[in-house]
Amino acid sequence: GDMQIDIVSVFPDYFEVLNVGLFGKAIERGLLDVHTHDLRSWTHDVHHSVDDTPVGGGAGMVMKPEVWAECLDDLLGFEPPSITAASNETQHSNASAPISNNTTDEPAATSENALPKPVLIFPNPSAPLFTQRDATELSHASHLLFGCGRYEGYDARIPCYYRAQGVDVREYSIGDYVLNGGEVAVSVMLEAITRLIPGFMGNPDSIAEESYTGSNALLEHYQYTKPAIWRGMGVPEVLTSGDHGKVDRFRRDEAIAHTDQVRPDLIRQMDCKALDKADRKT
Ligand code: ADE
Repeated sequence: GDMQIDIVSVFPDYFEVLNVGLFGKAIERGLLDVHTHDLRSWTHDVHHSVDDTPVGGGAGMVMKPEVWAECLDDLLGFEPPSITAASNETQHSNASAPISNNTTDEPAATSENALPKPVLIFPNPSAPLFTQRDATELSHASHLLFGCGRYEGYDARIPCYYRAQGVDVREYSIGDYVLNGGEVAVSVMLEAITRLIPGFMGNPDSIAEESYTGSNALLEHYQYTKPAIWRGMGVPEVLTSGDHGKVDRFRRDEAIAHTDQVRPDLIRQMDCKALDKADRKT
């Protein structure tokens, strides 16, 4: 089915990039229903300010909760709470709790148990890492709503509040480096998610065999195409043998050796059952 995607940002023009390539085609074909929104259109002051100085001091600015809440209430179809003036003494219960997406105990969604309610996603360099597993799960959602933070971040009560309202809220980092804002991270996550939607790719087989998919998290084996000899360099002879069994074994051995060399963390994470008898010799 088709997926609704809403993206909120102070740089909505950035997402023109989504009209390029397979993603653009998927929008044209009606597979993806994408709407970008300018966060500043939910401000009421002349300066359209979306940020303020951090409570407790320090450098940089923090995105204000009021503006985000007006925007997210609108996009989620929520009524703003009728009692807006909560007591100043009311302590926010878990704004300082570690970020948890609360998905670890749940089985990954399949097309049979698609995520029916909107998923609200905030890119955040201090959040858990976004992985292929998350991409697979989110490719079954019917509605994704991304909130791009800028500056030094956003008020921690925003995700907390919507989580308390029963919204499926996720915060993800795309890697251990710092970007200027969430826009690039959202485009990375969107590309990883949407290419897994049935009908998005021309050739769905190309998904099944890739790195980070399936029970084995091995990196892919090296690939070669013609010519057989290029600038004096040949290709591994077994690949031209026509013996599919030998080719598969060679590729798997090579994938294990390569993964062990560049990403030993992936080998350590692997389910032992995913390694066969012949693998153990590698
Ligand atoms: N915002 C800034 N840096 C980020 C990162 N690495 N991942 C997600 N969002 C970010």
